[in-house]
Amino acid sequence: MMYVTRRETFNAAHKVYNPDWSDAKNMEVFGGCANPNWHGHNYVLSVTVKGEMSKETGFVIDLKLLSQLIKKEIIDKVDHKNFNLDVPFLKDTLTSTENVTKAFWEILDKPIADMGCKLHSLKLQETENNYVEYFGEK
Ligand code: NI
Repeated sequence: MMYVTRRETFNAAHKVYNPDWSDAKNMEVFGGCANPNWHGHNYVLSVTVKGEMSKETGFVIDLKLLSQLIKKEIIDKVDHKNFNLDVPFLKDTLTSTENVTKAFWEILDKPIADMGCKLHSLKLQETENNYVEYFGEK
């Protein structure tokens, strides 16, 4: 078994805001991420798949095809977009890095399985110092 990772980058705007709370409580909990007039991040998404190496290619997965899949299913839909306003699969979602990562997993899991691999983990880096990793566990 071998693990292979493809890294992609995009930038997007969002606001992390719980509508059940006051503006003051949102600012207290989410800080600058609750700014009413949005803000952006330069995100780094790392997609790790696992599988057996092909005898013919020595590859677990053709990284060119994995990159194309990530671009089509994720990057084209979120890059230079506002998570809260422009991205249908994040509609009505509190756009924490955790929730965004989980939404990406739900999109990528099946098509990666269809390519003969298993999605092992997603790592989504929101800032230089903060990232989320998800392994598909409930
Ligand atoms: Ni933010």
